[in-house]
Amino acid sequence: MSSDHCLPTEEKESEEEQLRNQLKEVTLDDFIKLDEQQKNLLPKARRKKLERLLKEQERKEQKAKERAQTLEAERLLKLEESKKIKIEEDPSLPFATPIKIRDVPSYVDKRVTVQGWVHHIREDGKKLLFIELRDGTGFLQCVLSDLLCQTYEALTLHREATVLLKGTLTSDERAKGSFPGIELRVDYWQLIGPSPSEIENILTYESNPDILLNNRHLVIRGTRTSTVLKLRSIITQCFREHFFDRGYVEVFPPTIVQTQCEGGSTLFQLDYFGEPAYLTQSSQMYLETAIASVGDCFCILPSYRAEKSSTRRHLAEFHHIEAECPFINFEDLLFKIEDLVSDVMRRVMEKASHLVLSLNPNIQVPKRPFRRMTYEDAIRYCQENNIYKDEVTKMHFEFGDDIPELPERKMTDQINEPIFLTRFPVSLKSFYMKKCEDNSRLTESVDLLLPGVGEIVGGSMRIHELEELLEAYRREKMDPSPYYWFTDQRKYGSAPHGGYGLGLERFCCYLLGLYHVRDVCLYPRYKDRCKP
Ligand code: 4AD
Repeated sequence: MSSDHCLPTEEKESEEEQLRNQLKEVTLDDFIKLDEQQKNLLPKARRKKLERLLKEQERKEQKAKERAQTLEAERLLKLEESKKIKIEEDPSLPFATPIKIRDVPSYVDKRVTVQGWVHHIREDGKKLLFIELRDGTGFLQCVLSDLLCQTYEALTLHREATVLLKGTLTSDERAKGSFPGIELRVDYWQLIGPSPSEIENILTYESNPDILLNNRHLVIRGTRTSTVLKLRSIITQCFREHFFDRGYVEVFPPTIVQTQCEGGSTLFQLDYFGEPAYLTQSSQMYLETAIASVGDCFCILPSYRAEKSSTRRHLAEFHHIEAECPFINFEDLLFKIEDLVSDVMRRVMEKASHLVLSLNPNIQVPKRPFRRMTYEDAIRYCQENNIYKDEVTKMHFEFGDDIPELPERKMTDQINEPIFLTRFPVSLKSFYMKKCEDNSRLTESVDLLLPGVGEIVGGSMRIHELEELLEAYRREKMDPSPYYWFTDQRKYGSAPHGGYGLGLERFCCYLLGLYHVRDVCLYPRYKDRCKP
């Protein structure tokens, strides 16, 4: 029994009236959901019209269904038929030289073999199929015609399948790709590895960031991401060339260690055959030992930080470009960092300006010398420019405060040029940093800040006096025993020395105009992400 039966007549009537009013605006979608009793409350003409519209819609749906069935039947028939079509290579054709796509310009009018992934596919009627082939070295437009595009393999070809194509490289002004104006007229092809049709739906422009990151193994095949990965390779090569050109030796410190370099809060601990150990935060201390062996040295290795927050510039694993030089002073150190950053940018632009500009058309190699600012200047700048320690209470920064990422970036973006921020207080920096000769509360330390990214380099002169280092261990309440080898450095022929670490991912973001450090990683590692 419906609950209406229990209502007093007046109430029931007013409810019916209400419903009648609501039904005046009813659409076809609403009408389908109404029961017979509700439909009876509709004005007769309105009900008739809606019923007619409904019938019409049902008829259209039925027609569309039948059409889809016919098309599907035709498709299956065509597929069955296509299995009978076999293609063979014509033995009278000249030998097809195997090439990589990057070599295309040298083989115009020649018969070649290329192998790669189907980056894009487009049919033009029944008799033409355009494949944009990708082999990691470039993109090539390939044209399959007649029987070649009517085989079963051709009809079921999807993006990301791998293929071998033979044909003649021909000039055609309509051709796109890495070498516009040249296309491959295919005369024979083979499917190497198929790719299912779902590939079209896994990743779209609308996919959310987590889906894209879970499918990073597929995302990296995209044009933009593969360009970023190639540029990261070129940038790393330029760093190496810079160091070798300046006479540095590359060394290879371990990344599993038993000492901490940058404080305990970001250490990843692990069980090393029953002993406690850590993933390295920085190879600096090992580089400090290597200068007595090979002189100026550098390394390019992963460093690890158990960063609790995931900001756009923090990773749990990043590539650290570190260098160490004996017998230098603080001025020399600043010069070396400036030289590194400017020279590497110049080298990258020389090697790959077209790629860099395709991602970051506004890139400008910064002018030298870089602006210098002491920590004290920065505190004053924030005070005078409404950059607050606490935006809500408008509390100002005071000397001794750490300037966190956000206000630091605000300052850098306002100034809008590279800044060497120097002379940080002892309390804010690591135990190994040398104090300033003229002020023992400050250190000979430097951060290089770049607009848009913030800090990309951290460096300092190191304590080289034995007694001062032992005092630093005591001040920081560190057990000196695991550091015996680092301490020995101050016993056996100590030397004034300094060095720095540069975050490769942050540098790449700056140069390529990218927002997030994870965009320049093959497989980024940060809080809550350790896959794929
Ligand atoms: O300033 P940091 O912590 O300095 C050191 O580790 C020194 N021991 C280096 C040295 O003197 N050899 O780190 C240096 C740079 C930072 O400026 C930043 O670019 C990068 O390493 N970095 C990170 N990059 C990505 N994710 C993180 N969690 C990073 N932590 C530091």
